[in-house]
Amino acid sequence: MRIKQILQTKAEEQKISVKGWVRTNRDSKANAFIAINDGSCMSNLQVFVDKEIVTDQDVLRRAATGASIEVKGILVESPGQGQSVEVRAEEIIIIGDCPEDYPLQKKRHSNEFLREIGHLRGRTNTFGAVVRVRSAMAFAIHKFFQERGFVNLHTPIITASDAEGAGEMFQVTTLPFESFNSQNGIDYSRDFFGKKASLTVSGQLSAETYATAVGDVYTFGPTFRAENSNTTRHLAEFWMVEPEMAFCDINGDMDLAEEFLKYIISYVLENCAEDMEFFNKWVCKGILDQLRGVASADFARVTYTEAIAELEKANAKFEFPVSWGIDLASEHERYLSEEVYKRPVIVYNYPKEIKAFYMKLNEDGKTVRAMDVLAPGIGEIIGGSEREDSYETLIARIDELGLNREDYDWYLDLRKYGTVPHAGFGLGFERMIQYVTGMANIRDVIPYARTPKNCNF
Ligand code: 4AD
Ligand code: MG
Repeated sequence: MRIKQILQTKAEEQKISVKGWVRTNRDSKANAFIAINDGSCMSNLQVFVDKEIVTDQDVLRRAATGASIEVKGILVESPGQGQSVEVRAEEIIIIGDCPEDYPLQKKRHSNEFLREIGHLRGRTNTFGAVVRVRSAMAFAIHKFFQERGFVNLHTPIITASDAEGAGEMFQVTTLPFESFNSQNGIDYSRDFFGKKASLTVSGQLSAETYATAVGDVYTFGPTFRAENSNTTRHLAEFWMVEPEMAFCDINGDMDLAEEFLKYIISYVLENCAEDMEFFNKWVCKGILDQLRGVASADFARVTYTEAIAELEKANAKFEFPVSWGIDLASEHERYLSEEVYKRPVIVYNYPKEIKAFYMKLNEDGKTVRAMDVLAPGIGEIIGGSEREDSYETLIARIDELGLNREDYDWYLDLRKYGTVPHAGFGLGFERMIQYVTGMANIRDVIPYARTPKNCNF
């Protein structure tokens, strides 16, 4: 049995066997208390050792912090505080010793230090909780879409299209590393078996092709951005969730985004109570109340033009001053959600100049039907839009931006053959985990963070 299950079992002096890693071993003359954890939950299981029953002193010495052990014994009600049951040991078996240079000793370690030992940090309370909540959130996301009849679509990782048109793609190469240093006339821009190929920045364009075939779809996969950003909210490799809906406009898109985020939050509050209590106590005080509030109140919705008017009133506070036409910086996004609206806010109808080529142009000719969801503490968490569904307008936009028409032949076909209004968005999975757990740095909500100059494992 795993410890999570054991702790929910009624103690009736039944025999049990449990395996895990020693967190602490308080050894005294007549007895010892060993706390073991197996990662199934935050709590440790207390093992009471009577040295007249477990007589092998060497085994007790070797059951040190970090060692893996099996305990066979009797499950009893715990006389001590802090746990309802404990195990009275009859036999302890050492599975793997742990020498004294084990880096995870009893004290609290900083997240910076733990990043340097990324292969071991999952054994701490914080990172155990992060991966458990991450897993529950991934499940909630699939559940949300599957319950609503969306088809889960696997879009390619290696691709020829720059979905965002931002030129932030990692190139894929079949060439050996050694050839990078030689001047041998290789065309590095065509090195995927003679073609140009990159790692995807978004599954959106491929999702559009299937949304206009089977209706509502969603992707959930890794995406890559070759931007040299060293911030607490950017990764070079992150996971994105991208629903795409046929016969849907920007309003339907915003409705779905709001319902989706509230669903994930409610799911975590209900299913990850112990881990969330930990975050609330040790990582981000008050996060539980904040999330409960978000799950039950409407998000704010304002146009870009209205948001700019609010921000201009506070221009003195910003490093980057605000005027109509600028792309919002993180300080502006956070100010809107933390100071002005005090909850998540959806900003829509952005100037076309700062958004991607595929977004639907509004009648004003100046703005596009883009929408971003901005969350307190994080800033942009979702980016989405209604897509341009007019063949003529899309071609004009591609030409206007100097993009190559031939590269988008297939994408234009979707508008040529039975075009429909359609819309979608992308949720940055790690940013959502940051929002829910209150973890300050995006490097600490993914098992192995990929950031500039950081690819250690
Ligand atoms: O706003 P973005 O660039 O939008 C798209 O890629 C669209 N194709 C999505 C769509 O409409 N289907 O990215 C979407 C989200 C952002 O809001 C942010 O949460 C996250 O992806 N994101 C990042 N997360 C971590 N590290 C990065 N470098 C990120 N870049 C974007
Ligand atoms: Mg964006």
